Amino acid sequence: MTNIGRLFIIAFLFSAFSAAAERIAVIGTGEVAGALGPEFALQGHEVVYGSRDPSRESVQALVERTAGNASAAMPVDAVVGAKFVVLAVPGGLVESITRSLGDLAGKIIIDPTNHFATGEDGLPEMAVATSNGEIIQAAAPDAFVVKAFNTLNWSTMVDPESAGGPVSIPLVGDNADAKAAVATLVEGMGLEAIDVGPIRYARHIEGMLIVWISARFRPAESFEYHLRKLPSN
Ligand SMILES: NC(=O)c1ccc[n+]([C@@H]2O[C@H](COP(=O)([O-])OP(=O)(O)OC[C@H]3O[C@@H](n4cnc5c(N)ncnc54)[C@H](OP(=O)(O)O)[C@@H]3O)[C@@H](O)[C@H]2O)c1
Repeated sequence: MTNIGRLFIIAFLFSAFSAAAERIAVIGTGEVAGALGPEFALQGHEVVYGSRDPSRESVQALVERTAGNASAAMPVDAVVGAKFVVLAVPGGLVESITRSLGDLAGKIIIDPTNHFATGEDGLPEMAVATSNGEIIQAAAPDAFVVKAFNTLNWSTMVDPESAGGPVSIPLVGDNADAKAAVATLVEGMGLEAIDVGPIRYARHIEGMLIVWISARFRPAESFEYHLRKLPSN
């Protein structure tokens, strides 16, 4: 092959790699942000953390341990130019935080949140009549919300092998392309993505977490779950 041919292939590979690298805004800097941000950076993406206090020492430490081109900014600035926006924030605040982020049209919002209340018997129950996924979709109607990562602990997200077997991430959302894009991020972490339906099913996915947490009240019955795809024909 000629040198020009080699240069052409290198340029082609470089542009293909660049096209795959996206800007991901991770809103929040707590446990889930600290698990997903570094994982997405390892896949070659640029990560911008959205924090109410980007200069805080703990935020800068998170930026520091995130590979590649990572930074922190105020949430409304972090989403500018981002293809993905991860809402790693308290579950009871998703509507106000989504509305505070400005124009999210066309962006893929990844929603890992849970919001539960305590019933009269002390057991956890859903805090809203619909779901956080639907609340976020209504607050940002021109964005593509994909519910993901709400059914497992942050530590299993970063170390799926600790579960002793495959770990599935159920996805719900109304846009097939957005779900496929999120599935690629999920699978890049060594997790298994399973599309389980439209955003109106988010309530059921959020309910899985309620069932899981309630087992804390029956330690002898503690369990974990894995959705297993049927073998294809
Ligand atoms: N922890 C888990 O293992 C886990 C697993 C699955 C799903 N989830 C869900 O994922 C979401 C994030 O969980 P997390 O454990 O990462 O929460 P967390 O550690 O409490 O972090 C939440 C982040 O949200 C940001 N934030 C923005 N506005 C806030 C406000 N008014 N008050 C407090 N924080 C605010 C904060 O970042 P700044 O201070 O930098 O602004 C904070 O670091 C929750 O909805 C949770 O239910 C958690």
